[in-house]
Amino acid sequence: MQALRLKSGEPMPRLGLGTWKSRPGEVYDAVREAIRVGYRHIDCAHAYGNEAEVGQALAEAMASGVKREELWITSKLWNNAHHPEDVQPALAGTLRNLRLDYLDLYLMHWPVAVRGQAHFPPGVDEFIGPKELPFTATWKAMEDCVNAGLARHIGGSNFSARKLQTLLEEGRIAPAMDQVELHPYLQQTALIDFCRRHGIHVTAYSPLGSADRPAVLKADAEPLLLEDPAIAAIAKCCDASPAQVLIAWALERDTAVIPKSVNRGRIRENFEAGALRLTDSDLKEIGRLDRHRRYLDGAIWAPPGSGYSLEWLWDE
Ligand SMILES: NC(=O)c1ccc[n+]([C@@H]2O[C@H](COP(=O)([O-])OP(=O)(O)OC[C@H]3O[C@@H](n4cnc5c(N)ncnc54)[C@H](OP(=O)(O)O)[C@@H]3O)[C@@H](O)[C@H]2O)c1
Repeated sequence: MQALRLKSGEPMPRLGLGTWKSRPGEVYDAVREAIRVGYRHIDCAHAYGNEAEVGQALAEAMASGVKREELWITSKLWNNAHHPEDVQPALAGTLRNLRLDYLDLYLMHWPVAVRGQAHFPPGVDEFIGPKELPFTATWKAMEDCVNAGLARHIGGSNFSARKLQTLLEEGRIAPAMDQVELHPYLQQTALIDFCRRHGIHVTAYSPLGSADRPAVLKADAEPLLLEDPAIAAIAKCCDASPAQVLIAWALERDTAVIPKSVNRGRIRENFEAGALRLTDSDLKEIGRLDRHRRYLDGAIWAPPGSGYSLEWLWDE
């Protein structure tokens, strides 16, 4: 398995299993199967509501011989636990659910704070604005989690280059990772360049276009990445599936990539994309597909009156 080398010197397996929307009742099998096939990186989050079942699968994999240090487990601090005093208890809850002593990587899921009992999507008065609770205050509490040995690395998710720059300037610990939406329709080249210059790695989420996300997060008549004709043509040429081409493209860009699947055949198929090599002409062709299309546009985190806006969120 190809690995990224973090500033700390630790290797992080580049191809991981996503677990958002993997329902209790199916995520256990998905994680067990993924580890059997060879995945050693699992992407989790408190907000996915399935960490306890992921934890059961991890515990059983370790009981049958997989070593903890072979695994790379990422999780994320949810938006309703950004108050500094809530951060370590939130991480402790995640560790309890995952049945682990430490995480390899803990990410701030969004640079947006909501109140403890906020609904999903949150009402306007359930937000805590960025002036009242800046993400830098939350970051300091995440740094304390590293010092307490509960997380080996910390990072952002859905962070713009400008927000990463703020963490670099104001934090004691530099972010090791930014996990963002990345695929041929949203290539984010400037953000990747910024991260590379500052020793921050990037993980590509929703690399297949996230077609199974909830209706509240979908727009009408969206372009379907997995059905893109150029991707289909490249897939045909290299005797691979469109999903494999998308995963191989993310790997060619030196990012980590975390496709989600709960289907045994597709879990294996996605893992085997690690062996697929794209040609320069494939890469050029895919480079032309960029259309700055966010499937997760963040609008639910920036309604008018919330103190947040899309301009603030993405710094664009
Ligand atoms: N940090 C964040 O804010 C954030 C946001 C979004 C996602 N993520 C992370 O990134 C992971 C991946 O993103 P995602 O879940 O949004 O979407 P995704 O991985 O782009 O797409 C998942 C969809 O693709 C299907 N699929 C998987 N493999 C396939 C294949 N080989 N051929 C055809 N279809 C295939 C899945 O169905 P089956 O399951 O039925 O195979 C599912 O419907 C998440 O699970 C989560 O861990 C993080």
